[in-house]
Amino acid sequence: MQSRTVSELLKQNTTLLEVDIKGWVRTFRANRFIALNDGSTINNIQCVVDFENFDEALLKRVTTGAAIHIKGELVESQGKGQKVEIQVSHLEVLGDSDPETYPIQPKKHSFEFLRENAHLRTRTNTFSAVMRLRSALSFAVHKYFNENSFYYMHSPIITGSDAEGAGEMFRVSSLDNKNLPLNEDGKVDYTKDFFGKETNLTVSGQLEAETYAMSLGKVYTFGPTFRAENSNTSRHLAEFWMIEPEVAFMDLAGNMDLAEDFLKSVITHVLEHNREDLEFLENRLLNEEKTKPQAERSDMSLIEKLNFVTENNFKRVSYTEAIDILRQSKPNKKKKFKYLVGEWGMDLQSEHERFLVEKHFKCPVILFDYPADIKAFYMRLNDDGKTVRAMDILFPGIGEIVGGAQREERLDVLKQKMVAIDIPEDDLWWYLDLRKYGTAVHSGFGLGFERLVMFATGMCNIRDVIPFPRTPQNAEF
Ligand code: 4AD
Ligand code: MG
Repeated sequence: MQSRTVSELLKQNTTLLEVDIKGWVRTFRANRFIALNDGSTINNIQCVVDFENFDEALLKRVTTGAAIHIKGELVESQGKGQKVEIQVSHLEVLGDSDPETYPIQPKKHSFEFLRENAHLRTRTNTFSAVMRLRSALSFAVHKYFNENSFYYMHSPIITGSDAEGAGEMFRVSSLDNKNLPLNEDGKVDYTKDFFGKETNLTVSGQLEAETYAMSLGKVYTFGPTFRAENSNTSRHLAEFWMIEPEVAFMDLAGNMDLAEDFLKSVITHVLEHNREDLEFLENRLLNEEKTKPQAERSDMSLIEKLNFVTENNFKRVSYTEAIDILRQSKPNKKKKFKYLVGEWGMDLQSEHERFLVEKHFKCPVILFDYPADIKAFYMRLNDDGKTVRAMDILFPGIGEIVGGAQREERLDVLKQKMVAIDIPEDDLWWYLDLRKYGTAVHSGFGLGFERLVMFATGMCNIRDVIPFPRTPQNAEF
């Protein structure tokens, strides 16, 4: 007899004489009906026990959360709610669960409570659905790039360079904190550190990916990235996963096409393969919406929103046009924005991005050609001398989901830029070499994987779409 998953059994159309299954008890009703889940699907399989045939002491141990092993016959269900069920002939408790202290009771728990129990929260429907979707999206990412002839490149996690020039990095050091070696100026002597220089956890794999694009042509990275910014928001993590394609001979227009096609492809994948989980999450959201005042309710359901994104073109708007729209907008004129939109050149806040996406265009927006001063040093300067070929993709409910650019391929222009913002040439000699030896137009972008998972699942807090979130003051588990 072959052991099968709940998902496989629920798809069976015929009865089966002998089935063998292991999982965790969700509920045990009327000393007769066990709802069993093994993580393979959002649905439980109903296991029917004739209590006369089993020891009372054994049945007492069938409590919510216990791990059990069941053998029996798969039969057409007598009751409503399921096509098939298991008539139990053998029952074994593999691991008991104390019903008094088990945190995941069969009732509604708040997300805050479940975050504190993140080691058990995937035993709930919501979190198992979210994490199955996370897994499927991750597969879809690799599938897309594989089918489009990209190579998967592993960029280093420990790095000696700061890609974004933002300085919000976690130091990696093996020096003794209580006995730091100092140099003559009284500063920490990092030549004595493990790598003989200052090193950090990477904020982005881009610079290294560029070196591979300039030899392998089309590459992508997909790995953890780290930012020590103290932003305690529902959209920021200190450790998050980023997908970064980088392509030689591709300009900004090609970059936008790639990003749009890629996003549509991975969302289509889950629409086609993860229907049950999406429907569950959609219903969860619909119930939540009912508790909100009419004006705040969303006019699209989760699946409608996902379909909308796959079926419609993203709106492409230059930064300059966006500033004009924002300046003329109602919330700006009525001083409803926290940060009023004034001069060309200002950085956009998330309230502005969300206005553009959710109120003005009502669809995903690609903003491009930003002022050079508010973007990273490696972005290609436009002929106007003041804007760079940057692009950000903004999604409804999320804000910025992608940030990318055509890269500055001209050695002299790049050097001037680095001088202007005090990046020593010695730090990035290898990056400059790419511009010395066979330089070419190239572009890429970074997609924040958790923001994609938020969008696809409708979850509102980024802490609820990664197994064990790392945020300021929090690294439990
Ligand atoms: O816009 P960012 O900072 O761009 C880069 O790092 C480039 N080097 C990417 C590239 O061109 N290869 O980050 C890219 C994306 C953002 O759009 C956002 O989705 C996500 O990464 N992101 C975060 N996600 C969660 N928590 C944070 N603290 C994030 N910071 C950025
Ligand atoms: Mg960005």
